[in-house]
Amino acid sequence: MNILGIETSCDETSVAIVRHNGAILSNLIYSQAKLHAQFGGVVPEVASRDHLKKLPLLAQQALHTAGVGWSELGAVAVTSGPGLIGPLLVGVSYAKGVSWGCDVPLLGVNHLAAHLFAHRLAYPQVEPPFLGLIASGGHTTLVQVAEWGSYRTVGSTRDDAAGEALDKFGRLVGLGYPAGPKIDELAARGNPRAVSLPRPLLETGLDMSFAGLKTAAVYWLRVHPHFDLADLCASYLEAVVDVLAEKSVRAARLLELERIVVVGGVAANRRLRDVLPERAGERALSTYFPPVDLCTDNAAMVAACGHHRFIAQGRGDPPTLRPDAGMRLPS
Ligand code: KG4
Ligand code: ZN
Repeated sequence: MNILGIETSCDETSVAIVRHNGAILSNLIYSQAKLHAQFGGVVPEVASRDHLKKLPLLAQQALHTAGVGWSELGAVAVTSGPGLIGPLLVGVSYAKGVSWGCDVPLLGVNHLAAHLFAHRLAYPQVEPPFLGLIASGGHTTLVQVAEWGSYRTVGSTRDDAAGEALDKFGRLVGLGYPAGPKIDELAARGNPRAVSLPRPLLETGLDMSFAGLKTAAVYWLRVHPHFDLADLCASYLEAVVDVLAEKSVRAARLLELERIVVVGGVAANRRLRDVLPERAGERALSTYFPPVDLCTDNAAMVAACGHHRFIAQGRGDPPTLRPDAGMRLPS
């Protein structure tokens, strides 16, 4: 069975063809980052219009790359939330058209659950139970995954997401949007102990908070107008990574889970990929990060997640499926 996956929840247009066994035949990602860079962040209306323009072309190209025809599709899976409502509407409407035109089931997928399926695509042999850390531009959530399809949110950020905290800080120091990858690069050349910054909520519970860190950086910059950017980036990133690592290890130990699975755009970060396995290893916990192109938003994870839903429930969604910008995982 070939599953067509569609992702348009934010500023990446992505279309993938994934086989029922998890083989990725194509996974094309078109980033709108350049389009939004001039505004310093994603402009929803601009994003919607660009998805509308690129999605049909990308779908043709994904089929062509995979060597699969429209008539060979078995299902269409699409992110139906959470995300920006306009961009979600574009993806869901297109998926409905494919479902009707090709007479295949329509599968609305939760974007956060889809991020977890990046792990399944990368490490199919490493099954749940595990603790999932979803760290992206819009979300930072700790999820207990008892089995595929069974999710319980055990902690999340109370304000900014980890990626958002990096992007906002990056904007402050003139790195443009999105700043995460640039901070990653600069931090590799800096001293993470150069600037002392807070680790909000570090000692308590499983919830996180990153807004205060950004404010602390604002105040620090007022007093230190001349600074070494690499050192500052390394110090700021270290605070984010410290919190993510500490909370993940704490959650895994509390829930008696032996594995930590890290997904979402921030999972691409090199410092996190160094620090978390080290801290987890000290507690005899193992960690898994998918390859970078499966960490950031992509449609292969959406297809894999939709396929699992279809197998578990034996049916798709009705054509009345609506996108839900505020969709959550169960708590
Ligand atoms: O998962 P994703 O592609 O989109 C959302 O669902 O939000 O995550 C995007 C976020 C952005 O905040 C971006 O700055 C961050 O992931 N990001 C990174 C890196 N690559 C992307 N953050 C730190 N280091 C990276 N290498
Ligand atoms: Zn995402």
